Amino acid sequence: MTSCLLLGNCQSRTQPEIYKIGFSQCTGGDEWRKTMLNDMKRELTFHPNYTLLYEDAGNSTARQISQVQSLVDQGIDLLIISPNETTPFTKVIEAVFKKGIPVILLDRKIKTESYNAYIGGDNVEIGRLAGTFIGNYLKGRGRVVEVWGLPSSSPAQERHRGFREELRKFPNIRVVKELNGQWERDTVRHVVASELKALKEADVLFAHNDVMALGASEVWKQNGLQHQLDFVGIDALPGPNAGMQAITNGVLRASFLYPTGGEEAIETATRVLEGKSVKREQILNSIQVDASNIRALKAQSDKLLAQQVDIERQSQRIDKLTETYTSQKNTLYFTLASLLVVILLGGWALYLFRSKQVAYRTLENQNGEIRKQKDKIEAVSQQARLATEEKLRFYSYISHEFNTPLSLILTPTEDLLSKRTVSTHELKSNLTLIQKNAYRLLRLIDQMLDLRKTDAGKQQLHTAEQDLIAFIDDIVQDFKRKAEKKRIDLQFIPAKPTLPVWFDSEKLDKVIVNLLSNAFKYTPKGGLIHVRLDVVNQQVRIQVQDNGEGMTPDEQAHAFDLFFSGTRPFNLSKGLGLALSMEFIQLHQGEINVLSEKDKGTTFTILLPLGNAHLSPEEMSGSVARNPLNPSSPVSQRLLADLDEDENEAIAPGNLSAGQSGTLLVVEDNDDLRTFLAARLDHEFDIVSENTGESGWERALEIIPDLIISDIMLPGMDGLQLTQRVKADLRTSHIPVLLLTAQGQIEQRIEGTRAGADAYITKPFNTAYLLEVIRTTLANREKWQRRYASDFLAQSAGGNRQDKKFLNELTGLIEQGLTDATFGVERLSRDMGLSRVQLYRKVQALLDMNVIDYIAEIRLKKARRLLSESTKSMAEIAYETGFSSPAYFTTFFKQHTQKTPSEYRKSPTGV
Ligand code: FRU
Repeated sequence: MTSCLLLGNCQSRTQPEIYKIGFSQCTGGDEWRKTMLNDMKRELTFHPNYTLLYEDAGNSTARQISQVQSLVDQGIDLLIISPNETTPFTKVIEAVFKKGIPVILLDRKIKTESYNAYIGGDNVEIGRLAGTFIGNYLKGRGRVVEVWGLPSSSPAQERHRGFREELRKFPNIRVVKELNGQWERDTVRHVVASELKALKEADVLFAHNDVMALGASEVWKQNGLQHQLDFVGIDALPGPNAGMQAITNGVLRASFLYPTGGEEAIETATRVLEGKSVKREQILNSIQVDASNIRALKAQSDKLLAQQVDIERQSQRIDKLTETYTSQKNTLYFTLASLLVVILLGGWALYLFRSKQVAYRTLENQNGEIRKQKDKIEAVSQQARLATEEKLRFYSYISHEFNTPLSLILTPTEDLLSKRTVSTHELKSNLTLIQKNAYRLLRLIDQMLDLRKTDAGKQQLHTAEQDLIAFIDDIVQDFKRKAEKKRIDLQFIPAKPTLPVWFDSEKLDKVIVNLLSNAFKYTPKGGLIHVRLDVVNQQVRIQVQDNGEGMTPDEQAHAFDLFFSGTRPFNLSKGLGLALSMEFIQLHQGEINVLSEKDKGTTFTILLPLGNAHLSPEEMSGSVARNPLNPSSPVSQRLLADLDEDENEAIAPGNLSAGQSGTLLVVEDNDDLRTFLAARLDHEFDIVSENTGESGWERALEIIPDLIISDIMLPGMDGLQLTQRVKADLRTSHIPVLLLTAQGQIEQRIEGTRAGADAYITKPFNTAYLLEVIRTTLANREKWQRRYASDFLAQSAGGNRQDKKFLNELTGLIEQGLTDATFGVERLSRDMGLSRVQLYRKVQALLDMNVIDYIAEIRLKKARRLLSESTKSMAEIAYETGFSSPAYFTTFFKQHTQKTPSEYRKSPTGV
């Protein structure tokens, strides 16, 4: 399709063959030959697949022979030839014919049979017709001159023969002269001019063609000969200067139509080349043309000529149209081809675009996959990081949890051992503390072991069918004493009197005790704790409800997580206990969830399946009966949980006892440790204690203690945050902070140092050591105070940045206010943004002097400067340093410097 479009032709039938017809003409100069060529060309227009290669020999036999050869060399398919002479062409034509090239002889013959067709008039007959006409015209008597065509050409020979044969019928007609005109007008004119004598005697001149007859006539006229001579010719061509017109004009008496055969020659050639049969001898008819028929013939031939002109015009138009059509067709093909190229290019571009898009999409998908995988990896690594952090936090918490009871075992033990005599009361209270903390350790270890078992998937259920109502009632009863103490409304509300359920009593006991312990921990005095039990959808529902402090949504969402880093630190009784509770309930194929609202309360709900269809035979191996004597048995756990809380009120936060060496603020959430510290330190110091970082901070602001002892692990604001706050605030920045840390927690120490902590005590600690650290820290502070005060008054204070800032501000305010007699501590504390007490305590702590004394010191300092460096009068100096009278100034100055102002002016440095 593409190729046929590009080649410009796309017909489906086979392409007709293109034939070359060679036409060798003896001469092309005269009208008759031109007519012949036109006839051929006209006929060729009907055969578009034939081309004509035309050669004109100009009457030269030699030239015509070489032209025939050239045509053969050009690869002609057929030769049409009108040979100049007969004999010289015989061999030439035979050779061509032998080569397989068909030959058509036109108008003139040769002496061979090697041709396919001869086309031409019957020249013998035409000669006869001329003889008959002249015989009759001369009425059988007269003289005739015969002008020959080229004697070696066949028409001349045949016309002569027919003419002479016919004249024999007229014995009184004599041919007086034969002249050789060689078919040409000029030759005739020449010959006739030299034979005028013969012509003068003749009655008729018969020439073998009209051209020669007219030539002779011209010579006849030009010579002005009066003698009657009629001219007869052959051809009778139409046209202005040809035979027919000459007959009309009376120049010729008669002529004989001699058809050119051009049309017939082409038609025959096409038939031969198309393999069709042709007539070998095609003799064309002739008629006599004279005055009798010239009008009709001329009219006819004129019409024919006009039609031919018309046909030619039409054919030219057709040619033009064909040309236009061809050019339009070519343009169309070119356009189509361009369009096709554009479409192909477009298609290609589209294909490239699509492939690019596909590749792009594939890449994008791959990118997406990679991104997803990256996100997944990041999420997993984040999880792992969090888990590691949580584990670290968990372990540091665990060590803290272990350290506190250990401290409370070791410290009273050391205390007892170090004393020579111990009172019974002291011995009992110390041993109770030791026992309680030993049990506490036991419980922690028990929980850790449970957790380890759970982690390793080694927890095994040992159930037996028991009355769940009685079981829970028993547990609730154990908490009764505690409820009464805290005035909490503790109730067990079962929907049935009894309910047999398959459960592992040890595990369920731990769960219920844990939930109740939590409830007690977070429910204030006078609150309620209700335990409900009913059956819903074939499941037992146990609900432990309290109206305590409740949880935030975040705490609620992570209530059962083992390593949750919420706002609170880990709490074994809560975090670990709840995580274990969930494990135990899930072992029972049950569910546990929590519903809580901040400051409204919390409800834990447990659902356990009824029956034993969900249990395996091993799981129904029977639960061990509770043994109150076993310290790790559920009952002991319960008692311990109870005991844990019992000592809480021993020393409530904020209790003060009389002391002498300063005020210590103890911030510790563990009640036992707080109580213990207070008991051990109150012989020497005033003790103020708080159980949270927040309340500790408020207390510190209120009382500006001499030293703060704080645990690092505190709920809410932890020890580090508290230290930071104390050290950042002008009012408290001078207070030494002592942090209690777990063993080996070097990171905590670094953070503590960064926060500004002054010393550390590692748990478990020795009381004597603790006391020593406190004493040393306070003594150091005193030394530093003295140095600081003198340094500062000498204008070169060093030390804590916050404290330096404080003193700068304080001194600036005092100096500004000196000239104002009403200036005093009242205004100074207001301008400093402190209470009077805070100001007193701060100045005392920093400079170990009273504020009023410090103001006096500044007055004196200024007075000294004015006395030594200016010439101002005493009255002026007294006024500028804020004394109401010079006399009071003098007294005050003498009191403090042992010199009167005048003495000082004379000798500032002298004693
Ligand atoms: C033209 C011509 C004609 C004549 C014919 C004979 O060249 O001389 O006038 O009839 O040739 O071959």
